Amino acid sequence: MKFFIDTANLAQIKEANDLGILDGVTTNPSLMAKEGIKGEAAIMQHYETICELVDGDISAEVLGTSFEGIIEEGKKLAAIHPNIVVKVPMIKDGIKAIKWFTDNGIKTNCTLVFSAGQAILAAKAGASYVSPFIGRIDDSGWDGMQLIAQIASIYQIQGFKTEILAASIRNANHIIACAEAGADVITSPLESILGLLKHPLTDIGLAKFLEDAKKMG
Ligand code: G3P
Repeated sequence: MKFFIDTANLAQIKEANDLGILDGVTTNPSLMAKEGIKGEAAIMQHYETICELVDGDISAEVLGTSFEGIIEEGKKLAAIHPNIVVKVPMIKDGIKAIKWFTDNGIKTNCTLVFSAGQAILAAKAGASYVSPFIGRIDDSGWDGMQLIAQIASIYQIQGFKTEILAASIRNANHIIACAEAGADVITSPLESILGLLKHPLTDIGLAKFLEDAKKMG
């Protein structure tokens, strides 16, 4: 399972990359706005900087919702760096655009996916990644992990090549459950990735080892 970080914050991207386990980055308009990135030139520059920091797929989301607008924006984003993956919303024109990008050799990430039917459409259009939002599904009283398992089963039966990129991760347990459910990739805030490190017995065990190590010196 690949690990992506879900942020536009450069310090957090660097910290995750320094761990040596980072395979890519995902962003969205909310995450970019949070970092104060404004205007086309600044947006393009920010994606370029992320591409220089991390050697892996970098999802850059289009802001338009018409077929023509998505294509125009996607072409510009894809021209920034070969690792750019154009992130496209799960709407009718988005599916049309994903098919166009697929036919023209541009990688895509179909975002805002909340059902198996949407995931089938994204795969039919040839999306490189499909992004089910598990945290938001959990928030609405449904089971996000059940959707990951359902999509994983459908893709396996049908032989779809689209990778399942579990998004909207809220904690370390989500990451573990995604690994069990068959996600190909998780994209997570830094905090949840670092949460995987934590276990009280590790802390207690290390404190004891360090204490005993003094007796060895
Ligand atoms: O990037 C899409 C997704 O990960 C958003 O997560 O926490 O806003 O539901 P969240």
